[in-house]
Amino acid sequence: MRFLLQKVGALLRGLIDRFKIDRFKEVDDSHGESPGERSFYSFPTPRQKGGKVMRKIALVNQKGGCGKTTTAINLAHLLAGEGKKVLLIDLDPQGHAGIGLGAEIDHAEKTIYEVLLGKIPISEAIQNLKENLDVVLSDVVLSAFEQVMTGASEREYKLSQSLVEVENKYDYLIIDSPPSVGLLTFNGLVAAEEVIIPVDSSYFSLHGLGKLLDTIRIIEERIRHALSVKILATNVDLRTNFCRSLIEDLKARFPESCYQTMINTCTRLREAAREGKAIGEFDQHSAGFRDYESLTREILDEEPEMVARGFTLESFLAAEGRLELPEKREILFKLEAPEGSVVQIAGDFNKWVPESLDFIESQGRPMWHKTISLRPGSYEYKYLVDGLWVADPANESTVEDAYGGVNSLISL
Ligand SMILES: Nc1ncnc2c1ncn2[C@@H]1O[C@H](COP(=O)(O)OP(=O)(O)OP(=O)(O)O)[C@@H](O)[C@H]1O
Ligand SMILES: [Mg+2]
Repeated sequence: MRFLLQKVGALLRGLIDRFKIDRFKEVDDSHGESPGERSFYSFPTPRQKGGKVMRKIALVNQKGGCGKTTTAINLAHLLAGEGKKVLLIDLDPQGHAGIGLGAEIDHAEKTIYEVLLGKIPISEAIQNLKENLDVVLSDVVLSAFEQVMTGASEREYKLSQSLVEVENKYDYLIIDSPPSVGLLTFNGLVAAEEVIIPVDSSYFSLHGLGKLLDTIRIIEERIRHALSVKILATNVDLRTNFCRSLIEDLKARFPESCYQTMINTCTRLREAAREGKAIGEFDQHSAGFRDYESLTREILDEEPEMVARGFTLESFLAAEGRLELPEKREILFKLEAPEGSVVQIAGDFNKWVPESLDFIESQGRPMWHKTISLRPGSYEYKYLVDGLWVADPANESTVEDAYGGVNSLISL
Protein backbone atom coordinates (compact mmCIF):
# COMPACT_ATOMS: atom_id res chain seq x y z
CA MET A 1 0.00 0.00 0.00
CA ARG A 2 2.83 2.34 0.98
CA PHE A 3 4.49 1.58 -2.34
CA LEU A 4 1.30 2.31 -4.25
CA LEU A 5 0.82 5.61 -2.44
CA GLN A 6 4.42 6.58 -3.18
CA LYS A 7 3.92 5.74 -6.85
CA VAL A 8 0.67 7.66 -7.11
CA GLY A 9 2.25 10.58 -5.25
CA ALA A 10 5.21 10.62 -7.59
CA LEU A 11 2.94 10.46 -10.60
CA LEU A 12 0.78 13.32 -9.38
CA ARG A 13 3.82 15.41 -8.57
CA GLY A 14 5.06 14.62 -12.03
CA LEU A 15 1.82 15.83 -13.57
CA ILE A 16 1.94 19.05 -11.61
CA ASP A 17 5.63 19.68 -12.10
CA ARG A 18 5.50 18.81 -15.77
CA PHE A 19 8.14 20.84 -17.50
CA LYS A 20 11.18 20.21 -19.51
CA ILE A 21 14.50 20.00 -17.75
CA ASP A 22 16.88 21.75 -20.06
CA ARG A 23 19.94 19.90 -18.96
CA PHE A 24 18.60 16.63 -20.31
CA LYS A 25 19.76 16.95 -23.83
CA GLU A 26 17.48 15.12 -26.20
CA VAL A 27 19.70 13.11 -28.46
CA ASP A 28 16.96 12.14 -30.85
CA ASP A 29 13.68 13.90 -30.75
CA SER A 30 12.16 12.40 -33.83
CA HIS A 31 8.81 14.04 -33.21
CA GLY A 32 10.25 17.47 -33.18
CA GLU A 33 8.10 18.37 -30.23
CA SER A 34 9.02 19.38 -26.79
CA PRO A 35 8.19 16.71 -24.24
CA GLY A 36 6.82 19.38 -21.95
CA GLU A 37 4.21 20.35 -24.50
CA ARG A 38 2.77 16.88 -24.96
CA SER A 39 -0.63 16.60 -23.39
CA PHE A 40 -0.69 13.97 -20.71
CA TYR A 41 -3.03 11.10 -21.31
CA SER A 42 -5.47 10.12 -18.64
CA PHE A 43 -5.54 6.62 -17.29
CA PRO A 44 -7.87 4.58 -15.15
CA THR A 45 -6.93 3.52 -11.68
CA PRO A 46 -4.70 0.48 -11.45
CA ARG A 47 -7.33 -1.67 -9.79
CA GLN A 48 -9.57 -1.52 -12.81
CA LYS A 49 -7.36 -3.83 -14.77
CA GLY A 50 -3.76 -4.86 -14.55
CA GLY A 51 -1.34 -6.32 -17.03
CA LYS A 52 0.43 -9.51 -16.07
CA VAL A 53 2.35 -8.71 -12.95
CA MET A 54 4.97 -11.17 -11.79
CA ARG A 55 4.86 -11.44 -8.02
CA LYS A 56 8.34 -12.07 -6.70
CA ILE A 57 8.42 -13.77 -3.35
CA ALA A 58 11.58 -14.72 -1.45
CA LEU A 59 11.57 -17.17 1.44
CA VAL A 60 14.17 -15.89 3.86
CA ASN A 61 15.42 -16.72 7.32
CA GLN A 62 19.01 -17.19 8.38
CA LYS A 63 17.89 -19.89 10.77
CA GLY A 64 18.20 -23.34 9.25
CA GLY A 65 15.36 -25.84 9.17
CA CYS A 66 12.52 -23.39 9.75
CA GLY A 67 10.53 -24.38 6.65
CA LYS A 68 11.81 -22.08 3.89
CA THR A 69 12.22 -24.86 1.36
CA THR A 70 9.08 -26.74 2.41
CA THR A 71 7.12 -23.53 1.97
CA ALA A 72 8.79 -22.64 -1.33
CA ILE A 73 8.09 -26.09 -2.80
CA ASN A 74 4.51 -26.42 -1.66
CA LEU A 75 3.53 -22.86 -2.40
CA ALA A 76 5.02 -23.13 -5.89
CA HIS A 77 3.28 -26.45 -6.49
CA LEU A 78 -0.12 -25.30 -5.24
CA LEU A 79 0.03 -22.00 -7.12
CA ALA A 80 0.84 -23.94 -10.28
CA GLY A 81 -2.16 -26.15 -9.51
CA GLU A 82 -4.29 -23.02 -9.44
CA GLY A 83 -3.24 -22.33 -13.01
CA LYS A 84 -0.59 -19.77 -12.15
CA LYS A 85 2.63 -19.93 -14.09
CA VAL A 86 5.37 -20.34 -11.52
CA LEU A 87 9.16 -20.17 -11.60
CA LEU A 88 10.91 -21.57 -8.53
CA ILE A 89 14.51 -20.49 -8.11
CA ASP A 90 16.78 -22.32 -5.70
CA LEU A 91 19.41 -20.00 -4.25
CA ASP A 92 20.60 -22.52 -1.70
CA PRO A 93 23.71 -24.61 -2.47
CA GLN A 94 22.04 -27.46 -0.58
CA GLY A 95 19.75 -27.80 -3.61
CA HIS A 96 16.81 -28.90 -1.49
CA ALA A 97 14.11 -27.11 -3.48
CA GLY A 98 14.89 -29.21 -6.55
CA ILE A 99 15.39 -32.42 -4.57
CA GLY A 100 12.11 -31.89 -2.73
CA LEU A 101 10.31 -31.82 -6.06
CA GLY A 102 12.03 -34.90 -7.38
CA ALA A 103 14.50 -33.14 -9.69
CA GLU A 104 17.88 -34.71 -10.43
CA ILE A 105 20.31 -32.12 -9.16
CA ASP A 106 23.46 -34.24 -9.30
CA HIS A 107 23.66 -34.13 -13.07
CA ALA A 108 22.29 -30.66 -13.56
CA GLU A 109 24.60 -28.88 -15.95
CA LYS A 110 22.90 -25.56 -16.04
CA THR A 111 22.18 -24.22 -12.60
CA ILE A 112 21.57 -20.87 -10.99
CA TYR A 113 25.34 -20.62 -10.45
CA GLU A 114 26.07 -20.26 -14.16
CA VAL A 115 23.21 -17.77 -14.43
CA LEU A 116 24.46 -15.60 -11.57
CA LEU A 117 27.96 -15.58 -13.07
CA GLY A 118 26.48 -14.40 -16.35
CA LYS A 119 27.69 -17.49 -18.22
CA ILE A 120 24.23 -18.38 -19.49
CA PRO A 121 20.90 -16.55 -19.69
CA ILE A 122 18.34 -17.73 -17.17
CA SER A 123 16.16 -19.17 -19.93
CA GLU A 124 18.84 -21.80 -20.54
CA ALA A 125 18.75 -22.93 -16.93
CA ILE A 126 14.99 -23.14 -16.61
CA GLN A 127 13.58 -26.66 -16.48
CA ASN A 128 9.97 -27.58 -16.63
CA LEU A 129 9.08 -29.90 -13.75
CA LYS A 130 5.32 -30.04 -13.88
CA GLU A 131 2.47 -28.27 -15.57
CA ASN A 132 2.88 -24.54 -14.94
CA LEU A 133 5.90 -25.16 -12.71
CA ASP A 134 9.43 -24.36 -13.88
CA VAL A 135 12.57 -24.44 -11.74
CA VAL A 136 16.11 -23.21 -11.80
CA LEU A 137 18.13 -25.70 -9.81
CA SER A 138 21.11 -25.22 -7.62
CA ASP A 139 23.83 -27.48 -6.34
CA VAL A 140 26.85 -27.38 -4.10
CA VAL A 141 28.94 -25.44 -6.63
CA LEU A 142 26.83 -22.41 -5.76
CA SER A 143 28.63 -22.20 -2.43
CA ALA A 144 31.61 -20.76 -4.35
CA PHE A 145 29.53 -17.79 -5.53
CA GLU A 146 30.31 -15.47 -2.64
CA GLN A 147 34.03 -16.03 -2.93
CA VAL A 148 34.12 -15.81 -6.70
CA MET A 149 32.27 -12.50 -6.57
CA THR A 150 34.50 -10.86 -3.97
CA GLY A 151 35.05 -7.28 -5.05
CA ALA A 152 32.86 -7.62 -8.15
CA SER A 153 30.60 -4.69 -8.89
CA GLU A 154 26.82 -5.07 -8.79
CA ARG A 155 27.22 -8.48 -7.22
CA GLU A 156 23.98 -8.20 -5.24
CA TYR A 157 22.07 -7.51 -8.45
CA LYS A 158 23.06 -10.61 -10.43
CA LEU A 159 19.77 -12.43 -9.93
CA SER A 160 17.61 -9.41 -10.56
CA GLN A 161 19.57 -8.57 -13.71
CA SER A 162 19.17 -12.11 -15.02
CA LEU A 163 15.42 -11.98 -14.43
CA VAL A 164 14.83 -9.13 -16.86
CA GLU A 165 14.62 -11.83 -19.55
CA VAL A 166 11.64 -13.56 -17.94
CA GLU A 167 9.93 -10.47 -16.53
CA ASN A 168 6.18 -10.97 -16.68
CA LYS A 169 6.42 -14.39 -18.35
CA TYR A 170 5.42 -15.88 -15.03
CA ASP A 171 2.73 -15.04 -12.52
CA TYR A 172 4.87 -16.02 -9.57
CA LEU A 173 8.56 -16.16 -8.90
CA ILE A 174 9.38 -18.07 -5.72
CA ILE A 175 12.92 -17.80 -4.42
CA ASP A 176 14.27 -20.24 -1.85
CA SER A 177 17.25 -18.91 0.13
CA PRO A 178 20.04 -20.52 2.12
CA PRO A 179 20.15 -20.34 5.93
CA SER A 180 22.42 -17.28 6.04
CA VAL A 181 22.21 -13.63 5.20
CA GLY A 182 25.07 -13.58 2.74
CA LEU A 183 25.42 -12.58 -0.86
CA LEU A 184 22.99 -15.22 -2.14
CA THR A 185 20.20 -14.11 0.16
CA PHE A 186 20.97 -10.50 -0.76
CA ASN A 187 20.51 -11.40 -4.40
CA GLY A 188 17.16 -12.95 -3.56
CA LEU A 189 16.02 -9.92 -1.61
CA VAL A 190 17.11 -7.48 -4.29
CA ALA A 191 15.18 -9.45 -6.89
CA ALA A 192 12.09 -9.88 -4.73
CA GLU A 193 9.24 -7.55 -3.96
CA GLU A 194 7.78 -9.67 -1.21
CA VAL A 195 9.47 -11.59 1.57
CA ILE A 196 8.02 -14.44 3.57
CA ILE A 197 9.89 -15.21 6.76
CA PRO A 198 9.02 -18.66 8.05
CA VAL A 199 9.40 -18.65 11.83
CA ASP A 200 9.37 -22.01 13.50
CA SER A 201 8.37 -22.33 17.09
CA SER A 202 11.78 -22.23 18.65
CA TYR A 203 13.43 -19.62 20.76
CA PHE A 204 16.23 -19.14 18.22
CA SER A 205 13.83 -18.36 15.43
CA LEU A 206 12.26 -15.48 17.31
CA HIS A 207 15.61 -14.31 18.55
CA GLY A 208 16.99 -13.86 15.05
CA LEU A 209 13.87 -12.20 13.69
CA GLY A 210 14.67 -8.66 14.83
CA LYS A 211 18.08 -8.84 13.23
CA LEU A 212 16.67 -10.19 10.01
CA LEU A 213 14.10 -7.39 9.83
CA ASP A 214 16.88 -4.82 10.38
CA THR A 215 18.83 -6.40 7.54
CA ILE A 216 15.82 -6.26 5.27
CA ARG A 217 15.32 -2.57 6.03
CA ILE A 218 18.97 -1.88 5.19
CA ILE A 219 18.57 -3.72 1.92
CA GLU A 220 15.39 -1.78 1.14
CA GLU A 221 17.31 1.43 1.58
CA ARG A 222 20.10 0.24 -0.61
CA ILE A 223 17.90 -1.00 -3.42
CA ARG A 224 15.42 1.85 -3.04
CA HIS A 225 12.37 -0.28 -3.27
CA ALA A 226 10.05 -1.29 -0.52
CA LEU A 227 9.70 -4.97 0.29
CA SER A 228 6.48 -6.31 1.66
CA VAL A 229 7.46 -8.55 4.55
CA LYS A 230 5.22 -11.19 6.09
CA ILE A 231 5.80 -13.76 8.76
CA LEU A 232 4.63 -17.34 8.52
CA ALA A 233 4.51 -19.44 11.67
CA THR A 234 5.76 -22.93 10.86
CA ASN A 235 6.19 -26.17 12.72
CA VAL A 236 3.40 -25.07 15.01
CA ASP A 237 2.33 -27.37 17.81
CA LEU A 238 -0.31 -25.58 19.82
CA ARG A 239 -0.30 -28.32 22.43
CA THR A 240 2.85 -26.86 23.94
CA ASN A 241 2.77 -23.75 26.12
CA PHE A 242 5.95 -22.49 24.56
CA CYS A 243 4.53 -22.60 21.07
CA ARG A 244 1.28 -20.93 22.12
CA SER A 245 3.11 -18.07 23.80
CA LEU A 246 5.45 -17.70 20.85
CA ILE A 247 2.53 -17.36 18.44
CA GLU A 248 0.87 -14.82 20.73
CA ASP A 249 4.10 -12.88 20.91
CA LEU A 250 4.50 -12.90 17.12
CA LYS A 251 0.95 -11.71 16.56
CA ALA A 252 1.29 -9.00 19.20
CA ARG A 253 4.55 -7.73 17.78
CA PHE A 254 3.63 -7.94 14.12
CA PRO A 255 -0.16 -7.70 14.03
CA GLU A 256 -0.32 -6.64 10.39
CA SER A 257 2.44 -8.83 9.12
CA CYS A 258 1.60 -12.38 10.14
CA TYR A 259 -0.23 -14.72 7.85
CA GLN A 260 -3.47 -15.98 9.37
CA THR A 261 -2.44 -19.43 8.26
CA MET A 262 -0.05 -21.31 10.48
CA ILE A 263 1.79 -24.41 9.29
CA ASN A 264 1.37 -27.14 11.86
CA THR A 265 3.96 -29.77 12.53
CA CYS A 266 3.16 -32.60 10.17
CA THR A 267 5.36 -35.60 9.59
CA ARG A 268 3.76 -36.14 6.18
CA LEU A 269 5.52 -32.96 5.00
CA ARG A 270 8.85 -34.46 5.99
CA GLU A 271 8.01 -37.75 4.31
CA ALA A 272 6.84 -36.02 1.14
CA ALA A 273 10.14 -34.12 0.89
CA ARG A 274 12.06 -37.35 1.33
CA GLU A 275 10.09 -38.86 -1.55
CA GLY A 276 10.78 -35.84 -3.73
CA LYS A 277 7.13 -34.86 -3.83
CA ALA A 278 5.08 -31.83 -2.99
CA ILE A 279 2.50 -32.54 -0.31
CA GLY A 280 -0.26 -32.17 -2.89
CA GLU A 281 1.16 -35.18 -4.75
CA PHE A 282 1.87 -37.14 -1.61
CA ASP A 283 -1.04 -36.79 0.78
CA GLN A 284 -3.98 -34.50 0.21
CA HIS A 285 -5.59 -35.60 3.48
CA SER A 286 -2.75 -34.38 5.66
CA ALA A 287 -2.74 -31.32 7.88
CA GLY A 288 0.31 -30.14 5.95
CA PHE A 289 -1.66 -30.11 2.70
CA ARG A 290 -4.56 -28.24 4.30
CA ASP A 291 -2.23 -25.66 5.81
CA TYR A 292 -0.34 -25.00 2.61
CA GLU A 293 -3.58 -24.82 0.68
CA SER A 294 -4.83 -22.21 3.11
CA LEU A 295 -1.58 -20.24 2.76
CA THR A 296 -1.86 -20.38 -1.01
CA ARG A 297 -5.41 -19.06 -0.78
CA GLU A 298 -4.29 -16.17 1.42
CA ILE A 299 -1.53 -15.31 -1.00
CA LEU A 300 -3.87 -15.47 -3.97
CA ASP A 301 -6.32 -13.23 -2.13
CA GLU A 302 -3.62 -10.58 -1.88
CA GLU A 303 -3.37 -10.40 -5.65
CA PRO A 304 -5.60 -7.38 -6.30
CA GLU A 305 -3.41 -5.26 -4.09
CA MET A 306 -0.26 -6.68 -5.59
CA VAL A 307 -1.49 -5.99 -9.09
CA ALA A 308 -1.89 -2.39 -8.06
CA ARG A 309 1.56 -2.31 -6.49
CA GLY A 310 3.37 -3.81 -9.40
CA PHE A 311 1.46 -1.73 -11.83
CA THR A 312 3.15 0.66 -14.16
CA LEU A 313 1.44 3.13 -16.36
CA GLU A 314 3.23 1.67 -19.33
CA SER A 315 2.23 -1.92 -18.68
CA PHE A 316 -1.36 -0.86 -18.10
CA LEU A 317 -1.56 1.01 -21.34
CA ALA A 318 0.06 -1.81 -23.23
CA ALA A 319 -2.30 -4.35 -21.67
CA GLU A 320 -5.34 -2.26 -22.33
CA GLY A 321 -4.33 -1.62 -25.92
CA ARG A 322 -6.64 1.38 -25.82
CA LEU A 323 -4.04 4.02 -26.25
CA GLU A 324 -1.02 4.06 -28.41
CA LEU A 325 2.09 4.39 -26.38
CA PRO A 326 4.00 7.55 -27.12
CA GLU A 327 7.36 6.98 -28.76
CA LYS A 328 10.38 6.56 -26.57
CA ARG A 329 13.04 9.18 -26.69
CA GLU A 330 16.69 9.02 -25.93
CA ILE A 331 17.64 10.98 -22.86
CA LEU A 332 21.24 11.59 -21.98
CA PHE A 333 22.07 11.44 -18.30
CA LYS A 334 25.39 13.04 -17.42
CA LEU A 335 27.29 13.30 -14.18
CA GLU A 336 30.61 14.89 -13.43
CA ALA A 337 32.19 12.66 -10.82
CA PRO A 338 35.97 13.01 -10.82
CA GLU A 339 36.29 10.87 -7.70
CA GLY A 340 34.07 8.04 -8.88
CA SER A 341 35.49 4.82 -10.17
CA VAL A 342 32.12 3.09 -10.64
CA VAL A 343 29.15 5.30 -11.48
CA GLN A 344 25.68 3.86 -12.00
CA ILE A 345 22.17 5.10 -12.41
CA ALA A 346 18.98 3.58 -11.05
CA GLY A 347 15.42 4.78 -11.20
CA ASP A 348 11.83 4.05 -11.97
CA PHE A 349 12.82 3.37 -15.57
CA ASN A 350 15.03 0.38 -14.69
CA LYS A 351 13.20 -0.80 -11.57
CA TRP A 352 16.00 0.66 -9.48
CA VAL A 353 18.47 -1.93 -10.68
CA PRO A 354 21.70 0.08 -11.11
CA GLU A 355 23.18 0.27 -14.60
CA SER A 356 26.70 1.44 -15.23
CA LEU A 357 27.45 4.77 -16.89
CA ASP A 358 30.29 5.11 -19.40
CA PHE A 359 33.24 7.31 -18.75
CA ILE A 360 34.21 10.06 -21.20
CA GLU A 361 36.31 13.17 -21.11
CA SER A 362 34.22 16.12 -22.11
CA GLN A 363 36.09 19.37 -22.66
CA GLY A 364 38.88 18.11 -20.44
CA ARG A 365 36.45 17.21 -17.63
CA PRO A 366 35.79 13.67 -16.43
CA MET A 367 32.16 12.88 -17.21
CA TRP A 368 30.01 9.82 -16.88
CA HIS A 369 27.13 9.37 -19.21
CA LYS A 370 24.37 7.04 -20.28
CA THR A 371 21.61 7.37 -22.82
CA ILE A 372 18.30 5.84 -21.75
CA SER A 373 15.16 5.50 -23.88
CA LEU A 374 12.14 6.87 -22.04
CA ARG A 375 8.53 7.40 -22.86
CA PRO A 376 6.86 10.60 -21.69
CA GLY A 377 6.18 10.45 -17.98
CA SER A 378 7.82 11.19 -14.66
CA TYR A 379 10.72 9.19 -13.39
CA GLU A 380 12.55 9.30 -10.09
CA TYR A 381 16.19 8.35 -10.18
CA LYS A 382 19.51 8.61 -8.47
CA TYR A 383 23.17 8.01 -9.20
CA LEU A 384 25.23 5.47 -7.36
CA VAL A 385 28.84 6.65 -7.10
CA ASP A 386 31.13 3.96 -5.73
CA GLY A 387 28.22 2.48 -3.81
CA LEU A 388 26.88 5.80 -2.45
CA TRP A 389 23.51 7.11 -3.57
CA VAL A 390 23.52 10.73 -4.76
CA ALA A 391 20.77 12.83 -6.26
CA ASP A 392 21.63 14.46 -9.57
CA PRO A 393 23.44 17.72 -8.64
CA ALA A 394 22.49 19.25 -11.98
CA ASN A 395 18.76 18.63 -11.57
CA GLU A 396 16.90 20.91 -9.18
CA SER A 397 13.72 18.92 -9.44
CA THR A 398 13.60 16.45 -6.57
CA VAL A 399 11.07 14.50 -4.56
CA GLU A 400 11.37 13.10 -1.07
CA ASP A 401 11.97 9.42 -0.95
CA ALA A 402 10.70 7.06 1.71
CA TYR A 403 13.95 7.20 3.64
CA GLY A 404 14.27 10.89 4.43
CA GLY A 405 16.45 11.63 1.40
CA VAL A 406 15.58 12.92 -2.04
CA ASN A 407 15.37 11.44 -5.49
CA SER A 408 15.89 13.45 -8.64
CA LEU A 409 12.81 13.75 -10.79
CA ILE A 410 12.70 13.99 -14.54
CA SER A 411 9.39 14.82 -16.18
CA LEU A 412 9.10 14.44 -19.91
N1 LIG B 1 5.49 -28.26 9.22
C1 LIG B 1 6.42 -29.21 9.26
N2 LIG B 1 6.23 -30.33 9.97
C2 LIG B 1 7.15 -31.30 10.02
N3 LIG B 1 8.32 -31.25 9.39
C3 LIG B 1 8.59 -30.16 8.67
C4 LIG B 1 7.67 -29.08 8.56
N4 LIG B 1 8.19 -28.14 7.77
C5 LIG B 1 9.40 -28.60 7.39
N5 LIG B 1 9.64 -29.80 7.93
C6 LIG B 1 10.83 -30.62 7.79
O1 LIG B 1 11.88 -29.95 8.50
C7 LIG B 1 13.09 -30.03 7.79
C8 LIG B 1 13.58 -28.63 7.50
O2 LIG B 1 12.62 -27.97 6.68
P1 LIG B 1 13.06 -27.09 5.44
O3 LIG B 1 14.09 -27.80 4.63
O4 LIG B 1 11.85 -26.64 4.75
O5 LIG B 1 13.72 -25.88 6.21
P2 LIG B 1 14.68 -24.75 5.61
O6 LIG B 1 14.39 -23.51 6.35
O7 LIG B 1 14.57 -24.71 4.15
O8 LIG B 1 16.10 -25.33 6.00
P3 LIG B 1 17.52 -24.77 5.48
O9 LIG B 1 17.72 -23.50 6.17
O10 LIG B 1 18.51 -25.83 5.88
O11 LIG B 1 17.41 -24.63 4.01
C9 LIG B 1 12.81 -30.84 6.54
O12 LIG B 1 13.14 -32.18 6.78
C10 LIG B 1 11.31 -30.70 6.36
O13 LIG B 1 10.75 -31.82 5.68
MG1 LIG C 1 16.04 -24.87 2.68
